[in-house]
Amino acid sequence: YFVNGNEIFREARKHHYAVGAYNTNNLEWTRAELRAAEETRTPLLIQVSTGAAKYMGGYKFVKDMVEDQMDAMNISVPVILNLDHGDFESAKECIALGYSSVMFDGHALPTEENLAKTKEIIKLAHERGISVEAEIGKIGENQGGGELASVEDAKAFVEAGVDKLACGIGNIHGVYPADWKGLNFDRLKEIAEAVPETPLVLHGGSGIPEDQIKKAIQLGISKVNINTEFQLAFQEATRKYIEEGKDEDKANKGYDPRKLLLPGTEAITDKMKEMIAWLGTKTID
Ligand code: G3H
Ligand code: ZN
Repeated sequence: YFVNGNEIFREARKHHYAVGAYNTNNLEWTRAELRAAEETRTPLLIQVSTGAAKYMGGYKFVKDMVEDQMDAMNISVPVILNLDHGDFESAKECIALGYSSVMFDGHALPTEENLAKTKEIIKLAHERGISVEAEIGKIGENQGGGELASVEDAKAFVEAGVDKLACGIGNIHGVYPADWKGLNFDRLKEIAEAVPETPLVLHGGSGIPEDQIKKAIQLGISKVNINTEFQLAFQEATRKYIEEGKDEDKANKGYDPRKLLLPGTEAITDKMKEMIAWLGTKTID
């Protein structure tokens, strides 16, 4: 079963460390992430985007898969199942299905409407003990185009009852451009001071230099979202396997997907362990 993570993330904010939020895309991703969490004895937030859920056949499939793998792998660390960048309908669906956390991403709406819809989701979620993340400002997409979150919006959304808040602070989803200006620590600091207890979320965590991640965590970031980093790790390991001709090894059935996908899967586990160390994620007692 899943925990909502409120306690975990509030503790992280209080003690200046972060817990990673790791996207899943399929069975291999799911198992790689559960394994890294179990082996490091750290809590895991596993999340699915609307696109990845669609790819896998829906939110129910994802929930069942994660749950079944937790059983199969004897997972004993706390696991949070989160909808990542949900729209209004998908957030409602995941609440009904029993996800323990949902992100309602209304950043593209006018602020008033984002706030009003976020409040509706909060009401539905909190009745069932489910955690809610909202987004203010805009996380950049495909190498640019972000918008800084305002302190005023941060206060309003926290007053409305959000459990975690994703803020645009110069961060970008995907691969960062060579001329990226870095995170806006001044704005992060202002927001963190205005909402001193709410866990703040850093989206687009892949590719941010370690020192900037650590500084952001010191200032109030307690959840760091990682997806692209694992895609790149998977790609690199899989390419190496193929370039070494291992997939052509007929005697060992190197073409069998259970072998072909293994190096990439292991690369995700390794990369996640590295991220856990960067984030300073606390082990469970
Ligand atoms: O919501 C998901 C994350 O923000 C992932 O971003 O793919 O740049 O790591 P990333
Ligand atoms: Zn994101």
